Amino acid sequence: MHYRALGKTGLKVSEIGYGAWGLGRREWIGADDKESLRSLNRAIDLGVNFLDTALAYGEGHSEGLIGRVLKERREEVYVATKVPPKNRRWPAPDDVPVSQTYPGDYIVECCEKSLKNLGRDHVDVLQLHTWQDRFLDEDGWRDALLSLKKSGKARLLGVSVNDHDPASALRAVRSGVFDTFQIIYNIFDQSPDDEFLPACLEHGRGVIARVPFDEGALTGTITPETEFPDGDFRNHYFGGDRKRQVWDRVLRLRKLLGEGEAATLPELALRFCLAHDAVSTVIPGMRKVPNVEANTSVSDGRRLTASLKTALRAHAWPRDFYS
Ligand SMILES: NC(=O)c1ccc[n+]([C@@H]2O[C@H](COP(=O)([O-])OP(=O)(O)OC[C@H]3O[C@@H](n4cnc5c(N)ncnc54)[C@H](OP(=O)(O)O)[C@@H]3O)[C@@H](O)[C@H]2O)c1
Repeated sequence: MHYRALGKTGLKVSEIGYGAWGLGRREWIGADDKESLRSLNRAIDLGVNFLDTALAYGEGHSEGLIGRVLKERREEVYVATKVPPKNRRWPAPDDVPVSQTYPGDYIVECCEKSLKNLGRDHVDVLQLHTWQDRFLDEDGWRDALLSLKKSGKARLLGVSVNDHDPASALRAVRSGVFDTFQIIYNIFDQSPDDEFLPACLEHGRGVIARVPFDEGALTGTITPETEFPDGDFRNHYFGGDRKRQVWDRVLRLRKLLGEGEAATLPELALRFCLAHDAVSTVIPGMRKVPNVEANTSVSDGRRLTASLKTALRAHAWPRDFYS
């Protein structure tokens, strides 16, 4: 495992981090807690030292599993969690004031709940789970976050940027309030390349690249025939003829695979994220040990060639399957 600076925070994080949404068993159906615990342990064995979770992931279930694992481990492992919007609306709507989304006392209450679930006296990164640019001009949330930082309960502060909307966080990147930014960055959504990632580099912000596989599309395992369990959010995400659209794209992308640079689609997808100097860590969602082993093996110090990076630009596919 190779490690990178988390911006100018002083932390060194594993290039492959751990996305723990699926462990919550609420939006993603089908995780088995015993396998989740094995996966988390295997990831730490293999050098992963950055885990991303959220209070909302199974209302603390994902945090609770992480807490159980970390209690037994002696390695230094950093945990990033998130404060859910009080109105439970993702993405943050345009017309709702921050006083209804992130009131100060609510932020503190959520942080305390996360600490309890995690069994820790601090979180390494406390992120707001949604963001709107105008929050910067409104009061309440900032004092609460800064007081949590001052008390040491939140070592660093972050934002999880709204889906496919890097421009909405540019002012926040420059503001100096936040240390890290979590952003959708993958072969299909390359929009952070334009302004967002250069701004993070310029200002020394840590970048957590999320959804590297476009919720599984970029693993090549989703075919027009794939079925998801009842209640799983992917029934919406890949609804209608989207599985067919994804499959057509994936077939074209596969032509870029080869033994030299990336032998599999998951490998190519992760190498794409790690090819940008601004990215501190990429956090694939992992619920099974074989996926942990395959994904961690990608951090071997090799970088994509300029020609493959250029070829991947043609595979950008702007759209929003979340809405
Ligand atoms: N708003 C936010 O803040 C927000 C939103 C979304 C995600 N996130 C964070 O980002 C993380 C990553 O995103 P995600 O989990 O939604 O999606 P993702 O990482 O793009 O994709 C996860 C999917 O990829 C599969 N997978 C992982 N490794 C694989 C491999 N080597 N080969 C084949 N399949 C593989 C997983 O398999 P299984 O189904 O077998 O597990 C799962 O179905 C989340 O876990 C969460 O921590 C944050």
